[in-house]
Amino acid sequence: MSLMSDKIAVLFVCLGNICRSPTAEAVFKKKAHDAGLDLIIDSAGTHGYHIGSPPDKRSQSAGTDRGYSFSGLKCRRVDDDDFEKFDYILSMDNSNLKNLHGMSPSEHHHKIHLFLSFCDSTEEEVPDPYYGGKGGFELVLDLIEHASDGLISHIKAQS
Ligand code: 4NP
Repeated sequence: MSLMSDKIAVLFVCLGNICRSPTAEAVFKKKAHDAGLDLIIDSAGTHGYHIGSPPDKRSQSAGTDRGYSFSGLKCRRVDDDDFEKFDYILSMDNSNLKNLHGMSPSEHHHKIHLFLSFCDSTEEEVPDPYYGGKGGFELVLDLIEHASDGLISHIKAQS
């Protein structure tokens, strides 16, 4: 359980915290709510290129078209306290997984996973859509929706 409360706390992490991880936050918030789970859900980036910015407009457009809300989301960087506060720290790709391991004390490494390890996707990573076209943002949503369903089943099975 989180140090902040007795709720399970989930943090999604990508590089910039403007495309993939805020999309995961928006999707997982809706799916967890719909599944009747009361969780702490947040997102952050391993780098600080866009601190304080809202999610990328392309991510917001693709996500709102599928019914997800990005209201109030603002880019922030992962900080030391996150490794204490969160029970699940879920990376979108291997590069950020490695960064997270490097940033955290080894006692917290068991909390850090690839997000897609919670589903049966043949993909291992949620690819960075930042420099690509609209299809990349749709693929991000497809993968995140699938992994969110898997994570919800996992959390339900634990409680
Ligand atoms: P994200 O995508 O890690 O999914 O938020 C990126 C956003 C910004 C940059 C790279 C990736 N950037 O280089 O500014």
